[in-house]
Amino acid sequence: MSWIKEDELNLLEKISANILKAGPMPKHVAFIMDGNRRFARKKHMERQEGHMQGFNKLAETLRWCKHLNIQEVTVYAFSIENFKRTKDEVDGLMELAKQKFLKLLDERENLEKHGVCVRVLGDLEMLPLDLQELIAKAVITTKSHNKCFLNVCFAYTSRYEITNAVREMAWGVEKGLIKASDVSEALLSECLYSNNSPNPDLLIRTSGEVRLSDFLLWQTSHSCLVFQSVLWPEYSFWNLCEAVLQYQLNYKSIQKARDLHQEHQALLQLEADRACVAEHLQHHGNGKPADAQRRQEALLHYTTCREERIQDFLEALKHKRDSYFSDLCSKDV
Ligand code: FPP
Ligand code: MG
Repeated sequence: MSWIKEDELNLLEKISANILKAGPMPKHVAFIMDGNRRFARKKHMERQEGHMQGFNKLAETLRWCKHLNIQEVTVYAFSIENFKRTKDEVDGLMELAKQKFLKLLDERENLEKHGVCVRVLGDLEMLPLDLQELIAKAVITTKSHNKCFLNVCFAYTSRYEITNAVREMAWGVEKGLIKASDVSEALLSECLYSNNSPNPDLLIRTSGEVRLSDFLLWQTSHSCLVFQSVLWPEYSFWNLCEAVLQYQLNYKSIQKARDLHQEHQALLQLEADRACVAEHLQHHGNGKPADAQRRQEALLHYTTCREERIQDFLEALKHKRDSYFSDLCSKDV
């Protein structure tokens, strides 16, 4: 099964999609694709077959998302916790991923035609080297595509991602690229694996479990969370419509909470900049109190310098990450 399914929606699905699209649509949807093994048990199949059908369902869901104008999808494909499963199952999932990333490289022309950019979020160094290399090739091949985005979380947990972001900021401070006072919520967001994406508008978990299981904890504080009892391989277009409808019913309150949060963050940043400037003026002002105009000029100068500092730090971080992928890519698969 390929990553891209071209089929049209049937008439009833098309009509329903158009009705939904008259309302506010989520631009970014995240999925916890849960229930593959229960599905396999239910259908008396091998466990691996359940995971394979899980992948097929992902390809189908991406097609529905495209028809619903959902440009970005993030999926939990393999949690760091999943390494604790039996060796047989972990090996099976690694093999499935290898097959599918190889297939993705085969389909590069089709991915280009549809403008699909595939990113992989997680600590790839935990994966077998041949899989790391395939992932790097897939990521680099689709990097410049910009019509729709698929983020595959692999060897990922949210706490690990946040911890890694904190480590990156500590590295920046140690290298003298940023100051400890530059650390902020916004900067931490930029250091996450998900830094290239807006936060998901809607997060869907299947299989009836009502936990986030360490998935996108930072990114979903203002997302609509929908828990559905259907097992992932049985997910249907109608299940997706139902989740989107839930999002639409909650749209106003979600938007309001997001706007308030953004305003509050801007205010906090201004206060932090003011505090740094006040300290600076106190140390360099020869004991004379600064007038309002001088304080304002100093604030403007400080803010510009901070923004430039952060830009340079983020460039350095990007360079570090890009080199990891290009080094892997230069090896032969
Ligand atoms: C959760 O169901 C599913 C997984 C741990 C694996 C999900 C992976 C895929 C759908 C394939 C994706 C592959 C690529 C390359 C994107 P579960 O195993 O926890 O099942 P259970 O909840 O019934 O036990
Ligand atoms: Mg599960």
